[in-house]
Amino acid sequence: MTGTARRIVYRGARTLAVEPAEPWPTPPGHVRVDVAYTGICGTDLHILHGDMDSRVKPPCVLGHEMSGLIADVGSHVSGWGAGDPVTVMPLAWCGHCPACRAGHPWLCRDLVFLGIDAPGSLQNSWTVPAAALVRLPPTLRLDHAALVEPTAVAVHDVRRADLRPGERALVVGGGPIGVLIAIVARRSGADVLLAEPDPYRRAVADGLGLVTLDPAADLAAQVGEWTGGAGAAVAFEVSGAAAGVTAAVDALAVRGRMVQVAIHPFPREVSLYRFFWRELTLLGARLYERSDFETAVGLLAQGDIPAKALISRVEPLERTAGAFGALESAAGVMKVLVDCRPRGGAGAR
Ligand SMILES: NC(=O)c1ccc[n+]([C@@H]2O[C@H](COP(=O)([O-])OP(=O)(O)OC[C@H]3O[C@@H](n4cnc5c(N)ncnc54)[C@H](O)[C@@H]3O)[C@@H](O)[C@H]2O)c1
Ligand SMILES: [Zn+2]
Ligand SMILES: [Zn+2]
Repeated sequence: MTGTARRIVYRGARTLAVEPAEPWPTPPGHVRVDVAYTGICGTDLHILHGDMDSRVKPPCVLGHEMSGLIADVGSHVSGWGAGDPVTVMPLAWCGHCPACRAGHPWLCRDLVFLGIDAPGSLQNSWTVPAAALVRLPPTLRLDHAALVEPTAVAVHDVRRADLRPGERALVVGGGPIGVLIAIVARRSGADVLLAEPDPYRRAVADGLGLVTLDPAADLAAQVGEWTGGAGAAVAFEVSGAAAGVTAAVDALAVRGRMVQVAIHPFPREVSLYRFFWRELTLLGARLYERSDFETAVGLLAQGDIPAKALISRVEPLERTAGAFGALESAAGVMKVLVDCRPRGGAGAR
């Protein structure tokens, strides 16, 4: 690595600065990864807006959806070598809290999320614990591999729903996560309907052969028609909007399962009468485990996730602020990636 390495630093007050990054020796048990691409998501936007300042202490480096090539391997690391293509499952857990001991380390009481609680991948070069690495097949393009993390979210959520072939599943919210859930759910044999108000995002989903509708156009009536009056077996709430919660609850058949994926930072009103009357079940769904990550790698490598169609825009690292701006405007974008290779990044795919 040369002295020209760069990183993007969140400085608070909606500011992202391009700064030089000093090289440092790779610690034992760690690897240094030359980052190829980093995807930006709604969580990164929340951090930039200061919504998470109680948790995220500026100055810090964001980024947790990534791909890259190993540059350097620290001592006490085996099985990895320079040049290996990788992604990172951005979690570090304590191993001894009740959640970890129960076998749910992604729900660890003291979970460290790389890119939120520790430095992330919006930099040319990222040093991470070797335990967080996930191998990529050499045939998988590195821009497409930046979608492994959000795909792992979708894999986990569909598993959480215990979706069975032939079941009808409504996905409320067609951002990147909602579309990925719809694709993974369809692949597991469900009959999927995706509700999304944004015409561009609906058009992307339509182009992938998904059945979409505008929630403004009497969602309840359309779900009734689709299900012969019964309602959906599963509703994934992926919008983060109060109206999305109501739509998901109202769409469910008797004994239906609602999977809560979107993050609502404060309590919402929910019709508990509906839960009682129809014997509904509410399931929270958070993050993923390693098997979800590995499944996601496989889905992308097999071409089951249409990564090309989902990536709307790629900006160079120096223009990360512009990439955030594009996502913020939300008009005409699905997934936005940052190309984290030094300018002219020769050799990377
Ligand atoms: N559970 C997890 O571990 C996890 C992981 C990643 C993201 N998330 C959360 O999942 C949610 C979705 O992520 P994303 O990146 O796709 O976000 P996003 O904001 O890009 O997508 C949300 C979509 O919902 C749509 N929407 C708004 N109101 C709606 C309504 N009434 N009905 C239907 N759709 C509506 C918006 O137009 C938008 O396209 C966010 O809340 C995010 O924080 C959760
Ligand atoms: Zn994310
Ligand atoms: Zn723990």
